[in-house]
Amino acid sequence: MEATSADRESEDQPVMEGYETISAGALREKLAPLDRESYTAELCERFADKIARIMRLKRERRAIVLAHNYQRPEIFEVADFIGDSFELARKAREVRDADTIVFCGVHFMAETAKVFNPERSVLLPDLRAGCSLADSVTAEALADRAEELRKVYPDLKIVSYVNCTADVKALSDACCTSANAAKVVNAIDSGNILFVPDQNLANYVQTQTAKRIISWDGNCYVHHQITPEEVARARAAVPGIVVIAHPECRKDVIAMADAVLSTSAMMRYAKESPADKFLIVTECGLSDRLLLEVPEKHFYKSCKLCRYMKMITLDGVLDALENLRYAIELPDEVRAGARRALERMLELGA
Ligand code: 13P
Ligand code: SF4
Repeated sequence: MEATSADRESEDQPVMEGYETISAGALREKLAPLDRESYTAELCERFADKIARIMRLKRERRAIVLAHNYQRPEIFEVADFIGDSFELARKAREVRDADTIVFCGVHFMAETAKVFNPERSVLLPDLRAGCSLADSVTAEALADRAEELRKVYPDLKIVSYVNCTADVKALSDACCTSANAAKVVNAIDSGNILFVPDQNLANYVQTQTAKRIISWDGNCYVHHQITPEEVARARAAVPGIVVIAHPECRKDVIAMADAVLSTSAMMRYAKESPADKFLIVTECGLSDRLLLEVPEKHFYKSCKLCRYMKMITLDGVLDALENLRYAIELPDEVRAGARRALERMLELGA
């Protein structure tokens, strides 16, 4: 397995600032590499109308739209910035000329944007956009476990994957993302780390550090259901295929990968690699982005949809901008604690 790690330095994706709209015909052409049958002329007509209305409202509200790589392709058309969790956190911290941030992603990501922008309105278009990882740990359970472990490991430090709530972040010594988890763990001043909430990412980080990693038992339901048999079937069917997996995958899947990377690092790897056939082992939105941006290469999916990410639609974004909802609010002490842990990540893992 190639020694590519998830902690590779993250670079910015292109920023698509502006309010340009797209015609229905141009949109249909653009989305054709995905599935011409699904993106019918009628659907593209409706999308183009909504995109134009969203662009008008973005200007009126002085709003920017941040979108995760797993979002629907039509959402990318209204986004000012698309990226992985690390890039989105960094981008949210740098927002200057906007009153409102519409977050096209899941709840914990919108919370992070709010942590860095207490004076701005941060909107999540659908409150059902949660995350199975974030649901697997509460601040109370984490505090209890840390207290118990500190009796055995007095120097224990808590590193939380950003896929958790702001109050869990507030209890952490540092946050990390899939782009910098090993870097953060190796840089923090303790040999004993309680790593929450993803057991699969914890296992992966353990292969990149001599420190003791004590993991939580959470997982991402999307990645956890991908099996080594699926990867083996793709390898058998497509000779020479390069397998790129997300570190939220199970360890028996990661063991079969040629590269283990965050979503944006997967994009860069597929673009820069001389190979032209890839199995993309993560949520399907990423393969869609690759199909749109790298049409000359072949992308096979061993992936599943994240029902939470897919809650965000153009209708939801329109509603968010029209009615300024759903606003993310955080108590001051939670925001301050989460900010400290996120700043530590930016310091140790940049
Ligand atoms: P990254 O985009 O940071 O790799 O994260 C993937 C993910 O599952 C986010 O929910
Ligand atoms: Fe959470 Fe997994 Fe969905 Fe990401 S893909 S938002 S980790 S459930």
